[in-house]
Amino acid sequence: MAMRNTYLLGGATAASQSEGGFGEGGKGLSTQDLRYLDPTWDPEQIEEKHQHDPFSKREFDAALKDPGTTYYPLRRGVEFYHHYKEDISLMAEMGLQIFRTSISWSRIFPNGDDDTPNEAGIQYYHDVFEECQKHGIKVLATMVHYDIPVHLVTKYGGWKSRQIIAFFERYATVLYQRLGDVVDYWLPFNEINAAKFSPWDGACLIPGTESNMDQAIFQSLHHQFLCSARAVQLGRKLVPNEPVGAMIARFTTYPATCKPEDNMQAIQDDQYSNWFYLDVLARGYYPTYMKRYFNLLNVHVHQEAGDAALLRDGTVGFVAFSYYFSQVSTNQKNWAKTAGNLIMTKKNPYLKASEWGWQIDPVGLRVSLNQLYDRYHLPIVVAENGLGAHDQLEADGSVHDPYRIAYLKAHLDQLDLAVADGVDLLAYTMWGVIDLVSCGPLTMDKRYGVVYVDRDNAGHGSDKRYKKDSFYWYRDRIKQHCQQT
Ligand code: BG6
Repeated sequence: MAMRNTYLLGGATAASQSEGGFGEGGKGLSTQDLRYLDPTWDPEQIEEKHQHDPFSKREFDAALKDPGTTYYPLRRGVEFYHHYKEDISLMAEMGLQIFRTSISWSRIFPNGDDDTPNEAGIQYYHDVFEECQKHGIKVLATMVHYDIPVHLVTKYGGWKSRQIIAFFERYATVLYQRLGDVVDYWLPFNEINAAKFSPWDGACLIPGTESNMDQAIFQSLHHQFLCSARAVQLGRKLVPNEPVGAMIARFTTYPATCKPEDNMQAIQDDQYSNWFYLDVLARGYYPTYMKRYFNLLNVHVHQEAGDAALLRDGTVGFVAFSYYFSQVSTNQKNWAKTAGNLIMTKKNPYLKASEWGWQIDPVGLRVSLNQLYDRYHLPIVVAENGLGAHDQLEADGSVHDPYRIAYLKAHLDQLDLAVADGVDLLAYTMWGVIDLVSCGPLTMDKRYGVVYVDRDNAGHGSDKRYKKDSFYWYRDRIKQHCQQT
């Protein structure tokens, strides 16, 4: 296989966390619009809540009845909808080579099952991506980054229902036909394994309403796998030059000790939390190791004639992952725990953690890149990576964030080492390039960007953008990267 000699450096965001424009331009209500900041929320419990999926039946019902008086941070994001020209020009000033963002399904089909798309929504995304094109920035578009039209959940049951496949096909077809001229790469799903750990975000399942949540999760996932395979098939026909990929949240997994039992545990944790999802989408079939796991959880995935053939045919052209931390595996009781994105994990005594407890492990990025390339032999995109931190906006408009610079430098250095190892790296898009609302805690003060947005947790602020020190550092790093290749 011919190897590329360079990779693209860029930034990433998601519609539901940055776009705003709530109800504007014909947008329908999305599942992420229903999540609100709980007034009884305790910052000390933030990660604990995150692990148990902060969304519940009570919140679902309350939000549907009262979509107005409570503060819903994701409805506003950072109003990228109104700031996109300014934001893209900041990205261009940094020399960003690629921008990953998502399209909100409810902006294209407000209810999800509409016969015709919302022209204003299509126009909006076309304008955004065209603006990127003007600046020479490539576009990686995610079709579903957790949010789908609420109507698909209330009327059909969301991903759990097989009916959603036809609606998704219609959505993907419109995206390819109408936005194919301004998009370069496609991802049908953000972090497809999120369904397992955060059922509302990943599968639009309401905790507390399922008698066997695992059954509902894996049935929903089966439908998502079929949608992904259809997206690949449709892409081949409608946008043949635009690769379609698959993405997971990657938890690099180490055995806690060299005890054989710990090593076996690490193999299984890796299979159940990470490999299964990419194995189906990149290899085209359910791996045999899942039989044990499904038996354990009493899960019976209903499959129909033709499903296996569709999965076999619809394998992806690249694999992508988000990377924020590494996990430790052991069946030893009482091993200290810490948080990670989507899961609680065990502590690694050799690593420091972020303010939110996520273990910082740049070498783990190189480990995962090597593992993924060995396993799939497909080009790889690091679709998210970054440091959530409290930043201080100074009176002169500066933000000094040496911790973020150190984090980015350490991870980017490992990327270069992985490329030297022989990994076929297509792109790296750092997470939250422009500050956005965090997905777990739903706050603004867990900031990821190299651009600061003046907005607080309660939604107050001017939305003015300020360049952090890391903005200049990333600009120089990209320049150096381009000169070297
Ligand atoms: C990833 C998601 O899991 O983690 C993003 O794809 C999310 O949407 C990111 O923002 C960081 O998590 P958080 O909770 O710090 O925003």
